[in-house]
Amino acid sequence: MLSMKNISKTFGSLEVLKDISINVDQGKVVVVIGPSGSGKTTLLRCLNVLEQPDSGAVTIDNQTIDFSQKVTKPAIRELRKQTGMVFQNYNLFPHLTVIENIMEGPVTVQKQEKSTARETAVRLLEKVGLGDKADVYPYQLSGGQQQRVGIARAMAIDPKVMLFDEPTSALDPELIGEVLQVMKDLAKEGMTMVVVTHEMKFAKEVADEVVFMDGGYIVERGAPEEVFERPTQERTKKFLNLLQH
Ligand SMILES: Nc1ncnc2c1ncn2[C@@H]1O[C@H](COP(=O)(O)OP(=O)(O)OP(=O)(O)O)[C@@H](O)[C@H]1O
Ligand SMILES: [Mg+2]
Repeated sequence: MLSMKNISKTFGSLEVLKDISINVDQGKVVVVIGPSGSGKTTLLRCLNVLEQPDSGAVTIDNQTIDFSQKVTKPAIRELRKQTGMVFQNYNLFPHLTVIENIMEGPVTVQKQEKSTARETAVRLLEKVGLGDKADVYPYQLSGGQQQRVGIARAMAIDPKVMLFDEPTSALDPELIGEVLQVMKDLAKEGMTMVVVTHEMKFAKEVADEVVFMDGGYIVERGAPEEVFERPTQERTKKFLNLLQH
């Protein structure tokens, strides 16, 4: 469903991703962990081509972009349409109501009829447990509620894969669970997901594969119980120790 093959990315002289390959089969969940600056966000941004890799290829649902060739804007747009992205800081439009936030992508990007987009938005709001919040503004919601709107908004374009960048790290501890629950439900329904998170319990329950990155490399990868319980690399052990304290 989703793959990145031998992706490298530099910013100026800084090599941020070094020959990264990841494969996510349909309906699987990959969790990416790693220290600050290790390249996790850049990896997600390369997956939906918000950032253009220097080399390698990205494939989503049979569409491949090979970055060693000339890349066209329509190809990037096509690929990006297959992905929904959820950000650490929700990134909702403050001047739009909840339902308008969710309808924005379908109406302006996909040129859907407003009535169709509204129906979908209502359904998604129900799904994330916010059926009664359609007409309020983001500032009237808790962080956990805003992030659930963020997930509904990303789902509104009916993406093939969902990308999450530390979706709960800005939240108060008591609000994290409700967001993780929505993500678990999505996984259970068979959504293909790449999730950057340090929520180990979530990773253990939901991830098919855990990828540990450091310094732009994939240092270690495997089933969650392998990576968490029996890490083979020193750097992984050190990082997991830090996480647990
Ligand atoms: N647009 C950019 N221009 C220049 N350098 C960048 C840019 N984006 C990221 N970087 C650098 O690339 C490296 C990796 O950044 P990235 O945001 O991918 O890390 P991260 O693993 O997501 O970190 P964090 O856990 O803090 O979110 C960092 O050194 C960062 O400063
Ligand atoms: Mg990041």
